[in-house]
Amino acid sequence: MTLLSEANEYIKNNRVSKDELPVFHVTAPVGWMNDPNGFSVYKNRIHLFYQFHPYSSEWGPMHWGHYVSDDMVKWQEEAVALAPDESFDNKGCFSGTAIESGGKHILVYTGVYEVRQPDGKPETYQSQCLAHGDGHTYSKYSGNPVIDAKGLPKECSRVDFRDPKIFVGQDGKYKLIAGNKTIDGRPQLLLFESENLTSWDYAGIFASDTTGQFGHMWECPDYFKMDDTDVVIVSPLNMTSGGQFHNGNNVVGFIGKVIDDRFVMSSAQQIDYGFDFYAPQSLELPDGRRILIAWMQSWDMLKSIPEGNRWAGMMTLPREISVVDNTIIQNPIRELNNYRTNAENKAVTIEDGCSLSIAGGRVIDLTIDIASAGYEEIKILLASDETHNIEFSVCELLQEIICDRTMAGWTHDINCVRKIKTADIGVVKKLRFIMDRYSVELFVNGGVKTFTSTIYTPLNASGISIWCKKKAAVHIEKYDIQI
Ligand code: FRU
Repeated sequence: MTLLSEANEYIKNNRVSKDELPVFHVTAPVGWMNDPNGFSVYKNRIHLFYQFHPYSSEWGPMHWGHYVSDDMVKWQEEAVALAPDESFDNKGCFSGTAIESGGKHILVYTGVYEVRQPDGKPETYQSQCLAHGDGHTYSKYSGNPVIDAKGLPKECSRVDFRDPKIFVGQDGKYKLIAGNKTIDGRPQLLLFESENLTSWDYAGIFASDTTGQFGHMWECPDYFKMDDTDVVIVSPLNMTSGGQFHNGNNVVGFIGKVIDDRFVMSSAQQIDYGFDFYAPQSLELPDGRRILIAWMQSWDMLKSIPEGNRWAGMMTLPREISVVDNTIIQNPIRELNNYRTNAENKAVTIEDGCSLSIAGGRVIDLTIDIASAGYEEIKILLASDETHNIEFSVCELLQEIICDRTMAGWTHDINCVRKIKTADIGVVKKLRFIMDRYSVELFVNGGVKTFTSTIYTPLNASGISIWCKKKAAVHIEKYDIQI
């Protein structure tokens, strides 16, 4: 049996029941999921691959799992696309992207392989590989790797050279950008060019950190154009917190301009202020919308995953993104609106210490419009019962939103409190919460800031209440999401 058919057979026999999984956030059918991969449109359908280890709920030899969708809310499972079964990827098929070319669906991924040195010690290389398919099954290119780490300039790491982003450049050539670091530990993205996808030339450093602020290595680069702006998104390793940037595993978006094949950065922003958001990828839909999806987990907080779970890792809800005044804005994909039921709409005034309970729900789309200023603090409790909740406090005085998920059902001491500073976005007027069984995604003021968190609170904790200090007139719009 091949590794691929073994994986498909294992999934068939060990699938996790739907009742245990999130309702509309993508997970593996069983086992471990990390980064989104190959997020692309092929023959008018949306494909999402992902880093996959079917055999346990921990990271292991990486396969590519595969889903297809027409609206990115309902996903259809496909067979596993790649398994680490060749000499050029025997230690894993790591992250990568996809493109449609000549009627075929082309996957570009990092093959990790190990070679024994003459002294017997293993040495690991990360190289870029190709596979092609018809949207269902995929074959690896026999000439892999197409970009071998061994051929890199000597100042570039050969062990940290991964996560290729492929696209067609303005000159019509294929371009590939891969995450890398210099051997003395500075992050950079390397650019390669090709006419035919199989033979690639090194074309220099596409982007690098000139400030020393953004970690040692950039994983999972994404790059796209939006009107006149160029955007690069990376997931830095070993980044020190400070200013608006919270911790090691976060995601940074750079706004800038590509001049002569080199990205010149003009500003940087945190993409999501929450606990669980990493390695995002984007695609452009035929209607022009750019959609971003990320792994809804952080490497540093793996202890948050309940022991005994037969699945681990989820994707965020895909988000529509735009760039307004040099800021990347994110909002839930509008297709989610087609799955809203049980609408509730009300305008209420809450006053000093008064708490308002609204009909509960754990799989919801909830928008709170704060119609009047003058409140000091508004607290929103979700997924709550007598002993559990996740709490969001909007504090106008301190100009911050604080999320506290301490009581969200943890069995380990993980990071539970985080603040978003809001002085730069003015008064907080609108909060949209997208909640599924095991996650909450908050979109502030039409998506100028977002906050993503997993929760593993017991599923019957579904209370929702709003509390206010001083006086606030709010408009509440709530729907259940039913798939
Ligand atoms: C990011 C990452 C990638 C790598 C993959 C391995 O989360 O470390 O750089 O390709 O995960 O699973």
